[in-house]
Amino acid sequence: MKRLNAILTLALLAGPAAAADGKTVYDNICYKCHRTGTDDAPRTGNKADWAPRLAQGTAALYKNVAEGKGAMDPRAGKPELSDAELKAGVDYLVGMVK
Ligand code: HEC
Repeated sequence: MKRLNAILTLALLAGPAAAADGKTVYDNICYKCHRTGTDDAPRTGNKADWAPRLAQGTAALYKNVAEGKGAMDPRAGKPELSDAELKAGVDYLVGMVK
């Protein structure tokens, strides 16, 4: 029980202070293209769309989003996004197909 309390406390502390929330980044920006596949963007949660992307490895995905790829501008067109936010957004999209 003591251990559980410690875990809960940690979770609470980590919650609001978390630097970047992938779902928020996705809901604000990435969904616009990835939900419906605008300009052939790999669709959220679609394993077939994502399989060849995932095969590159996560580091390549982070890099391609930061530098831009095809119809996706560098930093997904939002230069104000931090690296942590971009990565969180990628992690969220990747998590939807795992
Ligand atoms: C303006 C539309 C648009 C927005 C907004 C957008 N994307 Fe994309 N995204 C695309 C398109 C189009 C591709 C496919 C690019 C290609 O392969 O030619 C893509 C590809 C990707 C890929 C795969 C890259 C690869 O190496 O194959 C990732 C990961 C990704 N987007 C993440 C994100 C994240 C995270 C966000 C939000 C921060 C985001 N995208 C916002 C259009 C968008």
